[in-house]
Amino acid sequence: MQHPVFKIQTSGRVNLIGEHTDHEKGWVLPITINKKITIYGSKRNDKQILAFSDSYNENFSIFLSDIDNYVPEKGNWYNFIVGIFKSFNNHVSVSHGCTISIFSDLPQGIGLSSSAALEIGLFTLFEQIYEKAFAPLDVVKFCWEVENDFIGLKCGIMDQFIVRFGKFNSVLKLNCDNLTFESANLPENIVILVLDTNIRHKLIDSPYNTRIQECSIALEKINELGFDITNLSELTENSLQKIQKKIPDPYLKRIKHVISENKRVKDFFNLLQINEDPDTQKKLGQLLYESHESLQNNFEASWSRADIIVQYCKNFYSSEIFGARMLGGGWGGSVLLLVDKNRKKEIITLLKDWFLKTFEEELTIFEFFADFGTKFEKIAENSLPEKSKQLINK
Ligand code: GLA
Repeated sequence: MQHPVFKIQTSGRVNLIGEHTDHEKGWVLPITINKKITIYGSKRNDKQILAFSDSYNENFSIFLSDIDNYVPEKGNWYNFIVGIFKSFNNHVSVSHGCTISIFSDLPQGIGLSSSAALEIGLFTLFEQIYEKAFAPLDVVKFCWEVENDFIGLKCGIMDQFIVRFGKFNSVLKLNCDNLTFESANLPENIVILVLDTNIRHKLIDSPYNTRIQECSIALEKINELGFDITNLSELTENSLQKIQKKIPDPYLKRIKHVISENKRVKDFFNLLQINEDPDTQKKLGQLLYESHESLQNNFEASWSRADIIVQYCKNFYSSEIFGARMLGGGWGGSVLLLVDKNRKKEIITLLKDWFLKTFEEELTIFEFFADFGTKFEKIAENSLPEKSKQLINK
């Protein structure tokens, strides 16, 4: 029996500001970008999942009966297939296998959230193949649970949320506590550039989970002082004055970051709504520099190459580059720049020359805009890539 074939596209994300606030139920300001993961798939008549990853040029197969006994091995792309399938299967009992082929132009390990794009993409595919649609917010929560409990990264919900809810031309200000959001547009004369620092990271092997632990110890210490809060984002600059001398580092530093970063998200979003201010771009950029400083010194999530790049932008190109900061979870990955649209070309050339001279490596720069987060459609089998056709007919 022939089954319908589906094409799912999900996007990576750039978080404009609000780094390391989502796990503390704070505010973030992400967009989904014009770099995608594309997944093709359809149901099979047997009880096997056959998968192919173009990025790894590797196949993976598993029988449905082996899914429950599968133990994730660190770093494998197919952990996501098993984890998401397992989660879907907990809600809808599935009795047929499927074929899945994954293609991507979304770089991995540079803070663009390729994992969340893959998770949401796979869940959306299963919804189509097995004809069961869930509320989008539930899909976000299921995928986030897989990342936390199956993959093992104790992350916040920002990435899965924006991949599912991101829209063309829109910046979302998300409250990670109650998951409500407002949207706005970026000023037209600003361009978003992302510089790959060529230092790769895998958050699962980084101090990310240690930071989450430190934040929860910080919360306990604050409550021992007589506060009654459930997350660090309930704190304000006023509360900081009360606890300053009573909480030791590194906990105090982590708290300082969360309080100040939440404030920067709100200030950034307010600026987006006042378009007439001639200094908007400068002020937005300044918030990025402040965010970097706090990520470097308070949250200690930065890495030296990112610090050098941000400092260089600040010292030498203050009129063309409005602001810069490390992007994503940290300890490797990329740097985000907000740049004057009219000076973009010369800035890219100057940065490439400087990067080559300084680090003796070629610089890769991406220009991003806010694009859709998730899209799905039924397609004809003959429009599949050759590799996907072969898999379906196996
Ligand atoms: C990673 C996590 C997100 C978020 C960022 C830091 O991308 O997946 O949940 O915590 O780091 O802001």
